[in-house]
Amino acid sequence: MPLDLANPDLYTSEARFTMWHEYVQADAKVWSDPGLSPSGFWSVFSHRDVSSVLSPKAPFTSEHGMMIGFDAEHPDNSGGRMLVVSEGDWHATLKRLIGPFLSRLRAPELQSVLHREVRDVIDRLRSEDSTDIAVSVGPRLPAAIVCEVIGVPLSEREHLIDLTNHAFGGEESSFDRMTPAEAHTEILFYFHELIERRRRQPGSDLVSALLEDGRLSVDDVLVNCDNVLIGGNETTRHSITGAFHAFQAFPGTLDALHDDPDLAKPAVEEVVRWTSPAAHVLRVATADCEIGGQEILKGQPVVAWLSAANRDERLFPDPHRFLPNRAPNRHLGFGNGPHHCLGAALARLELHALLRELAVDARGVELAGDVRWMRSNLVQGYSGLEVTMDWR
Ligand code: HEM
Repeated sequence: MPLDLANPDLYTSEARFTMWHEYVQADAKVWSDPGLSPSGFWSVFSHRDVSSVLSPKAPFTSEHGMMIGFDAEHPDNSGGRMLVVSEGDWHATLKRLIGPFLSRLRAPELQSVLHREVRDVIDRLRSEDSTDIAVSVGPRLPAAIVCEVIGVPLSEREHLIDLTNHAFGGEESSFDRMTPAEAHTEILFYFHELIERRRRQPGSDLVSALLEDGRLSVDDVLVNCDNVLIGGNETTRHSITGAFHAFQAFPGTLDALHDDPDLAKPAVEEVVRWTSPAAHVLRVATADCEIGGQEILKGQPVVAWLSAANRDERLFPDPHRFLPNRAPNRHLGFGNGPHHCLGAALARLELHALLRELAVDARGVELAGDVRWMRSNLVQGYSGLEVTMDWR
């Protein structure tokens, strides 16, 4: 029986790294029959194959869906409307509208939110004997920044952050007052209501800008806010949590960052490579083509495993090692090509602020329990990371 790479159980232990290593070394192209993913899919793993599937000229589209679960009979109904599952002119239009809200130029405005949230995180860590980073730390910064971008009023943030924790915390998380699906529905209701408010009273936020443009229906505004919310939350929280995991697994890293604050910049890239929270992206072939010698037929889905490519030792010597000054570091953590992460600048800003400030106060991280990985083929992340901190 061939392996169904959609099976989320394959990703709940570090055995996945051995599996990916074998596939990368063999330059494998693996077909998973229809099963958990109704149309089946090809998988590619090496840095070269993943880059070619995602390259701007490759004959692939996101418009029918961009993750495992793709069903040719029932394609993603946000296709052609939501940024990440749009192509061509509409994709370019959305990028032009949404991009400025996620760009580096927003850094000065976001600095105070970043600083406040990082200080809160450090104060919290200092006040507790041990802390589950995946629950109390990882989600804070990304959720606060996304609320700021979308324009969620301060008084409603805790409510939305609580909903995002339930929606994106994973099936087995301690956020258990509602299911992820229920929480996500609540978020959409919330956005609907926020859109109505911004229609009556525009502000300087993303919702108001999308409405003001005039080309987007209320539903289009809703799905694109959801895109930014998911993009900003589902991934960054695990990079932040994973940074603590890296500091535990590679003692001395925080000291190195303390002694040379400029190391934070390359270390941020290494955090994204080493954690690779977006495990895969899916594309559908728009023409018969060939990837690394494998024939792909028009209409077939191909899964590009970013997390495997980011540990390809042809590009990253000693790939399982966290090297804060790794150079070059051409990781694919933010994807590649036209859909390259639009929030990459914000994610870098968040990680940079955290690394810089944490290294001032903290010397080391120790595990206070088992690392618990999420049961997901899409997000390589943590459902639990209980740690104790060693302070300077
Ligand atoms: C797209 C990863 C943070 C918003 C993507 C893609 C990846 C990715 C791999 C490409 C999807 C594809 O090719 O189909 C990450 C990682 C992050 C991160 C690893 C953190 C470490 C963020 C943040 C935001 C964001 C903070 C916004 C606040 C988006 C959006 C897209 C996207 C809007 C769609 C871009 C497009 O289709 O043109 N992200 N992301 N991401 N991300 Fe991120």
